[in-house]
Amino acid sequence: MFIGLDLGTSGLKALLMNDTGAVVAETSAPLIVERPHSGWSEQDPQSWITATLSTLSALGQKADLSGVTGIGLSGHMHGAVCLDANGTVLRPAILWNDTRSVNEAADMDATHPWRAISGNIVFPGFTAPKLEWMRRNEPDLFARTACILLPKDYLRYWLTGETVSEMSDAAGTSWLDVGARDWSPDLLAAAGLSVDHMPRLVEGSEPSGTLRPQAASELGLPSGIVVAGGGGDNAASAVGVGAVTLGQAFVSLGTSGVLFAVTAKFSPDPATAVHTFCHAVPNTWHQMGVILSATDALNWYANLVDEPAAFLTSALGNEVRTPGRAMFLPYLGGERTPHNDAQVRAAMIGITHDTDRAAGTQAVVEGVCFALKDNLNALMATGTRIDRLLAVGGGSLSDYWLSALASTLNLPIDRPVNGDFGGAFGAARLGQMAATGAGVEIAPPPPIAQSFDPNPNLTSAFEDAHQRYTAAYTAIKELS
Ligand code: XUL
Repeated sequence: MFIGLDLGTSGLKALLMNDTGAVVAETSAPLIVERPHSGWSEQDPQSWITATLSTLSALGQKADLSGVTGIGLSGHMHGAVCLDANGTVLRPAILWNDTRSVNEAADMDATHPWRAISGNIVFPGFTAPKLEWMRRNEPDLFARTACILLPKDYLRYWLTGETVSEMSDAAGTSWLDVGARDWSPDLLAAAGLSVDHMPRLVEGSEPSGTLRPQAASELGLPSGIVVAGGGGDNAASAVGVGAVTLGQAFVSLGTSGVLFAVTAKFSPDPATAVHTFCHAVPNTWHQMGVILSATDALNWYANLVDEPAAFLTSALGNEVRTPGRAMFLPYLGGERTPHNDAQVRAAMIGITHDTDRAAGTQAVVEGVCFALKDNLNALMATGTRIDRLLAVGGGSLSDYWLSALASTLNLPIDRPVNGDFGGAFGAARLGQMAATGAGVEIAPPPPIAQSFDPNPNLTSAFEDAHQRYTAAYTAIKELS
């Protein structure tokens, strides 16, 4: 038996998987994001421990955990947890969607070969500019920082007592030489840090340590369980949906939206704002385009019109319509791929007297599809080929959304059978690999419940609408 723990932005999920790869039980606990200033996004690392204790206690009530031999970890990427020399947390964790370090990121990106070594733009959401912000604004805390951990790696520290990270999450710090799968002393020195501030690195499918006796007794688990390296949430989700070998790809409609493709070698193209990271399995890399608001945009609109998001999308029916006149640009908190624009903000344009709630929903859903089309174009510009996509995440439960996305991207999209193939499941699979020595053969894609094909009568209308969307971005960029 194997446990996957997925530290999500809004909640922590625990999942129990048996030796044949079937999900036995799942539990979750909510987490709160603190926004003490505009653009800030923080979490108290202690709340992750509390949530782990409560989800595992609930999991233990649903199923017998005495046979667990491996734990895998998944988590939101890029966050900074700063520890002093005693291992004490120095300040709340600064999260992936915190934009305070926009100036630091731009300065770093412009002044040192970060892109050449890390393979990526230094995005404001990444870890290194957060520490640069601390160096400039919280110099005392920066000076006392002895070790910097990514969020799920702090959970590992509590579970095992060891400071360890793995390649897929480390690739999103800007301090990793992503091609070499090792910390870059050069980049760390440019940040006023050194390899001594970094955790040890393992592959996601390798053991990173074992459950310490004290944590085991608090969690009601046998001690000595192997804790796998695990993965950043996107790489772990990829393992969950079986995207582990060249040519496989998926789209995630979660809080953020991700278009993810596996690559067999390190082939960065930072100018496209495509992310090129290590995968959670050895000798494998991946590319992804990230949009900051996917279901986040629909949830914003749902709050505005005071109806549940699922009601709004189901009210659109299943038959995809011609793109509406009202158009939404989902840049509620700026955008990563392809614009790398932390300043731009969302807009709804083309509103008429006829624009009702449904037209607004359609515009939001389509806006997310157009933003993902920009990501597909960016990935293709690097030479990556995608023939079809598997869809995961909350938004993938909407037939309308997947049909509109298929017509926008002009690609067939598959929805897996009911079940959870996200980060927690992928983490459990990585737990199994680390505990048993198994490889990617234990991570096949899930059975498909339904496929959504592009509607040939509508693809050119979606293409035209996407061109208007591109022009609208250029216009609102000036205003933002
Ligand atoms: C990826 C990214 C998000 C976070 C939160 O680069 O920033 O997907 O991992 O889920």
